[in-house]
Amino acid sequence: MVEVRPSGSALGADIVGVDLSRPLTSAEFGAIHGAWMDHLVLRFREQRLTDDALMAFSRDFGGLDGNPRHAKAEGRTEANPNAGFVNIISNVVENGRAIGGLGNYESKWHTDMSYNQVPPMASALYALEVPPSGGDTGFCNMYTALESLPAETRARINGLSCVHDSSLNSVGQLRVGFEDVTDPRKTPGAVHPLVRTHPVTGRQCLFLGRRRNAFIQGLELADSEALLDALWAHATRPEHCWTQQWHVGDLVLWDNRCALHRRDEFDGTARRVMHRTQISGDRPF
Ligand code: SIN
Repeated sequence: MVEVRPSGSALGADIVGVDLSRPLTSAEFGAIHGAWMDHLVLRFREQRLTDDALMAFSRDFGGLDGNPRHAKAEGRTEANPNAGFVNIISNVVENGRAIGGLGNYESKWHTDMSYNQVPPMASALYALEVPPSGGDTGFCNMYTALESLPAETRARINGLSCVHDSSLNSVGQLRVGFEDVTDPRKTPGAVHPLVRTHPVTGRQCLFLGRRRNAFIQGLELADSEALLDALWAHATRPEHCWTQQWHVGDLVLWDNRCALHRRDEFDGTARRVMHRTQISGDRPF
């Protein structure tokens, strides 16, 4: 039986009593999906997952999204249709080559791939090796971030849209083929509403993406910067957040439509190996 244990913070819950290496029954999936809508981020501890099991679990929620590292789905063929759907997040270097992305750096608050017109609805991250300390992943509830804004700020941002920068990754590295943004009014990336409606819950939430190079369309640059600084400071206050401290075998599933995430840096001599899938979403509205 699926048991839901809320974290007691603004978001996050443990799901106990399921083995994700086996197919979920429809009752189990229904209970998990309901808990996910309520708590935004779910943690499943003590799992033992192959990449195929990770993908099968992710596919219960929707189609899989390609990811930046495998943007061209290298190696995907009829015989190997799963290539490119599991992204490795790791600092490990083997034979002079990084086996994954993001190294051991801090990653700043962001929404995965929101620089696309149709960002992924969800990400699932599974821990194979974790460092003794550091590398914790923080999450932030964007429903409560919106709901707790002063009424005048809420009225002001209604109907405004913001560009989500595609030039930098979440650890601040310039992506291949992009130039440094020196004027946020020229930032490349998708434009999304600042307040979006979650397509399943029908609730409204803030949709910020990432702070650097963001620009609120139609405002003077200085006004956009000041409003974004205020929104980011408010949204990421501790009362909206919960932090995951990883153990090997943890699988964490988060809803990119209504939760931001970030990661602490960690000692680069320790190993951290995580496998991630992304689940396709809808265009934000
Ligand atoms: C990320 O910022 O997307 C990576 C999260 C993590 O490595 O914990």
